[in-house]
Amino acid sequence: MEFEKFNPVIEKVNKKIEELLVGKPENLYNAARHLSRGGGKRIRPLLCMLSCKAIGGRKNDALNTGVAIELIHTFTLIHDDIMDKDELRRGVPSVHAKFGEPTAILAGDLLFAKAFEICNPEIKGVLARASSEICEGQELDMSFEKRDDVSEEEYLEMIKKKTAALFEASTMSGAIIGKGNEKEVEALSTYGLNIGMAFQIQDDILGVIADEEKLGKPVGSDIVEGKKSLIAIKTLEQLQQPQKEELIRILKKEKNTVAEIERAVGLFREYNAIDYCKKKAERLIEDAKRPLQEIPDSEAKDDLIEIADFVVGREI
Ligand code: IPE
Ligand code: IPE
Ligand code: MG
Ligand code: MG
Repeated sequence: MEFEKFNPVIEKVNKKIEELLVGKPENLYNAARHLSRGGGKRIRPLLCMLSCKAIGGRKNDALNTGVAIELIHTFTLIHDDIMDKDELRRGVPSVHAKFGEPTAILAGDLLFAKAFEICNPEIKGVLARASSEICEGQELDMSFEKRDDVSEEEYLEMIKKKTAALFEASTMSGAIIGKGNEKEVEALSTYGLNIGMAFQIQDDILGVIADEEKLGKPVGSDIVEGKKSLIAIKTLEQLQQPQKEELIRILKKEKNTVAEIERAVGLFREYNAIDYCKKKAERLIEDAKRPLQEIPDSEAKDDLIEIADFVVGREI
């Protein structure tokens, strides 16, 4: 994250991760530790711990579950980079690029298992459900690559599963651990779900326009992979022939030239698809903040509001 004030919490999370990921064979554990040492914002554990605090619990009570959620997240990144054929992650080679696909698959599985070893027992069901949803969302995401008629509604359902489910699980878990009442748990869950949706839309925007060095992962790769991001969907909806056919051809092609990627981005801009997505993400952030009225004012609540704004303003 960019907020230095969260560094002490993030350091606690990192220390726990390091303690957990010790074992043999060394190659497997090196692969499992690789991305955690590479960087990452740790936004999910932070949300989990702040949600616990915001309803009167102690941040530390949610530390283990926050760590578990970060491990699940890291597991999905490792497997996602195999699926998306991306070789850069958090500014370092992705796990399969460095350790090979078989060890990367195992490293992901290991992190997934460790997450269930360390999370608070009452949270296991929440994390298991979110993990199933991530699998469903990832399968939908890949199946959309083969289609040219994906709707905004279908896209929103897909990102709810592949991304927002884990954000929702983060804030819900924190609220449960902090012994929030039904209303509070629901308010924080809705907050997490909506920032998760906005987070993925912003991620898709950054995947088109960000600075690759700063972002630490490939820019333009969604176009090469033929992803039906909301940006691509909104452009395709408006395009007439022959430009529509041209964009479909670029998205379908397996290896694109720089000129083809630039052409796709040019069409996205010409049809104001990036602005449309920015506005959609901003509206979701408003939907995220609204239910926080249900919980009492506090420093932790202010932090949650700040994080919501960060999600759409971020460049990393
Ligand atoms: C990347 O998540 C994957 C998505 C859900 C878009 P983050 O942007 O939180 O990745 P790190 O943890 O900071 O690397
Ligand atoms: C994000 O996937 C969701 C998961 C990793 C489950 P993406 O493929 O959209 O995210 P990046 O751009 O690779 O981080
Ligand atoms: Mg993906
Ligand atoms: Mg990806």
